[in-house]
Amino acid sequence: MELFSPVNSKFNFAEMKMEPEGELITRNLTDMDWMFKDQRAVEKLKAEDPQIYRYYNVKIPEEKGHLQHCISVINPGKIGEEYYMTKGHFHARKETAEVYYTIQGRGKLLLQSVTDKKPEVQVLEMEKGSLSYVPPCWAHRCVNTGNEELVFAGIYPGDAGHIYGEIEEKGFARLIVEREGRPAIIDNLKYG
Ligand SMILES: [Fe+2]
Repeated sequence: MELFSPVNSKFNFAEMKMEPEGELITRNLTDMDWMFKDQRAVEKLKAEDPQIYRYYNVKIPEEKGHLQHCISVINPGKIGEEYYMTKGHFHARKETAEVYYTIQGRGKLLLQSVTDKKPEVQVLEMEKGSLSYVPPCWAHRCVNTGNEELVFAGIYPGDAGHIYGEIEEKGFARLIVEREGRPAIIDNLKYG
């Protein structure tokens, strides 16, 4: 392995961005519009195409031994009754884990097992100071249930890789929506 120089990154809260910026990836509504339940609400917002979330990837070699890390920012908002969320993924190397550290805001971490058996769903709370462990073989999606940006750091093995395919097509078996002013976990009727 080549010697890689230590590197510092810092999240600038005044401007809500990482410095240095690294690789910035933004996801607007039209990048993930089919993932939301309420397609009439999607159609109404498509022209405006709001940013749902973004993440700042620190440029680290995608190799075993390294730790990839990024800061994600999910904006507050809803499409219909469904909160803004990340697309969600699992790792190409399913046996790799991840840690999320919540820096600001409030949300839920939706987890779904990826094994040969029937998927199991679990939900962890995300709030300032939460250190959440995503064990191997769990797909993961973060959902902003608060009224400010949900900001969190993700740290995972350099060679974990990402697979969006199955999650992009089928979604998760549960959805996180607002009911009577509070977050509620409901079945995803479209989940096959
Ligand atoms: Fe991940």
